[in-house]
Amino acid sequence: MKPVKIGFLGFGTVGQGAAVVLARNANEISRRAGRQIIVKSAVVRDINRTREAGLEEVKLSTDPLDVVNDPEIDVVVEVMGGDEPSRTLLLQAIANGKHVVTANKALIARFGNELFEAARERSVSVAFEAAVAGGIPVIKSIREGLAGNKIHWLAGIINGTSNYILSEMRDKGRDFSDVLQEAQELGYAEADPTFDVEGVDAAHKLTILASIAFGVPLNFDAVYIEGISGISREDTAYAEELGYRIKHLGIARDTGGGIELRVHPTLIPERRLIANVDGVMNAILVQADAVGPTLYYGAGAGAEPTGSSIVADIMDAARGASAAVDNRVPHLAFQHDALSEIRVASPGEFETSFYLRIQVDDKPGVMADISRILAEEDISIEAIIQKEPAAQSTTVPIILLTRKIVEGAMDAAISKIEALSSVEGEVKRIRVESLG
Ligand code: NAP
Ligand code: HSE
Repeated sequence: MKPVKIGFLGFGTVGQGAAVVLARNANEISRRAGRQIIVKSAVVRDINRTREAGLEEVKLSTDPLDVVNDPEIDVVVEVMGGDEPSRTLLLQAIANGKHVVTANKALIARFGNELFEAARERSVSVAFEAAVAGGIPVIKSIREGLAGNKIHWLAGIINGTSNYILSEMRDKGRDFSDVLQEAQELGYAEADPTFDVEGVDAAHKLTILASIAFGVPLNFDAVYIEGISGISREDTAYAEELGYRIKHLGIARDTGGGIELRVHPTLIPERRLIANVDGVMNAILVQADAVGPTLYYGAGAGAEPTGSSIVADIMDAARGASAAVDNRVPHLAFQHDALSEIRVASPGEFETSFYLRIQVDDKPGVMADISRILAEEDISIEAIIQKEPAAQSTTVPIILLTRKIVEGAMDAAISKIEALSSVEGEVKRIRVESLG
């Protein structure tokens, strides 16, 4: 069978990772795909930069049109990142009848609806396994493996950089900024690392997961986003005292009255498997009606793990190239005309338990005031830790764990607690999920 020719837009961490995997496992890959896969060319910014050894046969260029308009290229792999020129180049590749593979979650989350529509019109595919959770085949698993299920919720550690930072802070007491710098050096972080630490990257991935789980169009703007930059070592330590770990989670839940889409630090009971997913590893827990809970675990970032997903997508594109568009697996798991707009819940409607850290004057009656306010909002307390004041300090931290409550009630209680003259500064609040 005729070989499939590939052109890369971008040849950095992920691009070279994919090319190395294609070269090393060429025999395995062609035996599975039924044809050879050849990397013809790659577009970069700096043609003189040193690349991985063994990739000398790949023709480098600085003009993206050398790939996008090359009639010999069957599949364009976009691993440049960013919105533009990636979006325009992929639309051009699609218009030229090429299949597209991308690791760019920001692009899919924000412009996927447009790209999929263009691809359907030209009977080509847009594949994006590498965009969510690096090397874990979670898109394929949900889209195809769970196709017979109704999915109730999913919750995932879907940003490797944040998980790496939280793990190193907890296990080794390391500084936030040191660990972030290391994650950048290891090739895990985004070009703009605030995307990682402020939760934006996880929100891009959650947008994609929610669409394939619930059959809704991609809607990045509807995701509630909080990152890990406000998490301190003391919160990590208090969480441990209470039997929890703090993880940065993306959560999509069908509540029956709408869907919750949220990304934020979360306390999870330490006995849960997902609470023990450390370093750059990712894991996604999916609760579905027929199969029950399933957990998908693996490397969430890095050259070859992400390259592994890219290669699988290239092979799918190569095999499915001749299939009629209606006979392919739909981009978002559900047929394009069967996607439905489901109401997205506002943050005030989210229902979770809470961890609260409140710095108060070390005097009698303060806890009574706080308990009264929580009772007024119908909030029950599950656990309390009260510490001795540090040397020379007149204030102490009180740590509370509450039962489940809608977030609107918690907002009201926190405003009243912060207004007490015996309370210093803002109340630190972290959501708690049992994931049971
Ligand atoms: P990277 O190492 O910075 O590589 C980007 C590549 O694109 C480089 O080769 C760069 O050229 C080239 N490039 C960027 N802008 C260009 C332009 N305007 N014209 C031509 N070439 C351009 O990035 P990466 O880590 O591989 O990430 C690529 C994509 O994969 C991003 O969307 C990212 O979110 C996603 N992703 C990354 C990971 C990961 O672990 N790193 C995992 C999953 C998904 P030079 O080499 O000359 O600089
Ligand atoms: N910056 C991303 C992360 C890369 O750390 O998870 C993988 O998508």
